[in-house]
Amino acid sequence: MPRRARLFAVVPAAGRGERFGSRQPKQYVELLGRPVLSWSLGALLAVRSVRAVIVALSGGDRRFARLPEARDPRVRTCKGGARRELSVANALEALRGEARDEDWVMVHDAARPCLQPSDVRRLIAALRDDPVGGLLALPVGDTLKAAAADGRCERTVPREGLWRALTPQMFRYGVLRRALKLNLERERTVTDEASAVEALGMRPRLVAGRTDNIKITLPGDRGLAAAILRAGRDSSDENRSRLRRPRI
Ligand code: CTP
Ligand code: MG
Repeated sequence: MPRRARLFAVVPAAGRGERFGSRQPKQYVELLGRPVLSWSLGALLAVRSVRAVIVALSGGDRRFARLPEARDPRVRTCKGGARRELSVANALEALRGEARDEDWVMVHDAARPCLQPSDVRRLIAALRDDPVGGLLALPVGDTLKAAAADGRCERTVPREGLWRALTPQMFRYGVLRRALKLNLERERTVTDEASAVEALGMRPRLVAGRTDNIKITLPGDRGLAAAILRAGRDSSDENRSRLRRPRI
């Protein structure tokens, strides 16, 4: 009988956040008194079936060790690379000898602190029996414009069938390793795991995720992420107090 596939998580957190532009990398910026990376890790650690989380950190990182999540027995670190996919490849290398080809690896950006554990569970449930894997994504809602160099509309791009890729993205360990290796050999730059897997000729499954799973990319995203987290906290307080209220 085949052994049950296990689930590992990888969090690339070695970026410099150049577009965000703060003094400290954006993964350590505080939202409601807690660093972005803590929020992102918290959503993954809330899911019991995640066996271990490998966090890829930049060489000079002195902050990670001070996060409470650094003391979680399921959390480990590895060295990041010069590009996101190299950070992910290093984390996969750190799992060599432990993860089997058929095990799952869920990759989640450190810069997505608003991830909800319910979305993690939804992704796991949708992919459980999938031979390839897939990703959380959102159907494009806005009208899309292709821009010309002068900043005017070149044309309108039909949005039917177009999705925005989010994270987590979840693939079999063996498939993901092969995909990233081929990608490096071909010297292609990819911004997500799915595009590397697509280059193997495989077709990752799109799983509709929550619209509030935003990535902190530009300075304005900080306020948006804080508002999303505050709304989530307030609504759970509200739910708790509603539960506590005596029935009349
Ligand atoms: N990342 C990483 N290693 C890199 C580059 C990026 O681990 N060499 C991580 C980032 O820390 C982030 C995630 O990949 O959690 C998504 O990347 P992105 O949003 O592009 O973050 P940065 O690369 O830090 O930002 P920028 O591109 O603006 O510099
Ligand atoms: Mg980047």
